[in-house]
Amino acid sequence: MQYLQYDRDDLVLENVPVRQLAEEYGTPLYVYSESQIRDNYRRMDEAFAGVPHRLCYAVKANSNPEILRLLAEMGAGADAVSIGEMHLSLQAGVAPENIVFAGVGKRDDEIEFAIQQNIRGLNVESEMELQVVADIAARLQRRARVSLRINPDIDIHGHPYISTGRHQDKFGIAMDVARRLITEYRDHPHVQLVGLHAHLGSQIAQILPYRKLGEVMYELASFTAQQGHRLEYIDVGGGLGVRYEPQGDERHFRHDWQGVNELAIEPKAVADALLASLRQLELPILFEPGRALVANAGLLLTRVLYLKETGGKRFVIVDAGMTELLRPSLYSAYHAIVPLQWREGEAIQADVVGPICESGDFLARDRRLPPLQRGDLLAVLTAGAYGFSLSSNYNARPRPAEVLVKDDQHRLIRARGRLEALWAG
Ligand code: LLP
Repeated sequence: MQYLQYDRDDLVLENVPVRQLAEEYGTPLYVYSESQIRDNYRRMDEAFAGVPHRLCYAVKANSNPEILRLLAEMGAGADAVSIGEMHLSLQAGVAPENIVFAGVGKRDDEIEFAIQQNIRGLNVESEMELQVVADIAARLQRRARVSLRINPDIDIHGHPYISTGRHQDKFGIAMDVARRLITEYRDHPHVQLVGLHAHLGSQIAQILPYRKLGEVMYELASFTAQQGHRLEYIDVGGGLGVRYEPQGDERHFRHDWQGVNELAIEPKAVADALLASLRQLELPILFEPGRALVANAGLLLTRVLYLKETGGKRFVIVDAGMTELLRPSLYSAYHAIVPLQWREGEAIQADVVGPICESGDFLARDRRLPPLQRGDLLAVLTAGAYGFSLSSNYNARPRPAEVLVKDDQHRLIRARGRLEALWAG
């Protein structure tokens, strides 16, 4: 179900007119629909209902504490990639046994923290890291719970910056090395191999990579068992994509979102593809969705500052830019942009750009938009994942505020950054 729609001319999220939020809290502003997040979580959870499983939410997608808390309450674990994300997850109420910790560059203090908290698994990404984990565990007189992050060499045919499972990517351990480590680390006093992990990449829109991943993990898990390890789980990463682009013309948004904000594949189809092989292992499955749980729940609200034509181009200059939403600049990502109040009239074609002193600072290029005036409010859609979490203070801009909407209620879940805090650092 879609919680965003037009009521006559006004954009409404759940039961709150979005313009009211922009006026009350100011812009730029992130707003999220709680009901949408809850629906997303339930749908994903049901997809894996046939097997023991845990959804370990990829905290990096959106680490607002209130969003973490609401997902934790629904039963989510956490996929963390730093000591900061582990801290946030623990504070939000995620039990240590439901936290996994990935990342190619873990610092020693982060590894030590993970071992001491006895989290579900440290997803080790290289032979050298495994050695370091073993050394730290020995010093602490502990047995570290480790899962090997495999690089399965599967191409998701997506943007190279968010493909992580091809052999040329920096992530994970090659299969042959993994096999050797599995043999070498049998009965190790300070390393307990509890899981196998892989993450193919992000914004996946096809089933086939998941099917292949299931097969690869099944084979490796069987090998691992033959070597005498007792695996406790298989962690298949995240990556399920969301539709950002409309299938037709944005001018029709007022009546029909044309697929924007829907998942790129049915969660059930993803689960079935993975489980086709993995089911036979009878091990709990961890799935680490980030984007699929929060992207379509979030909007970035921004106000039109100026309209300008130069060099034969038309620009709509707004008060949000790459500091608030980096995805267009970093990946040439498309985000639909709609007015908070619809105005009839001839459509314009323009670049929507931010105030940042970079030519690469844009939210949309050559976009067809309804007629606009100074002061108009716009919503950038599908901004709940990798929006605020990729924001920065560049150009000494305080970070935007965040608001959570539920039915006809709304509340601030992160205050706007303060100018004084820029000075304090
Ligand atoms: N697990 C691991 C180990 C990951 O590295 C990631 C994302 C996920 C799970 C969650 O992936 P998701 O379900 O959200 O696709 N900033 C980029 C996305 C980077 C994803 C990094 N890793 C973007 O805005 O598209």
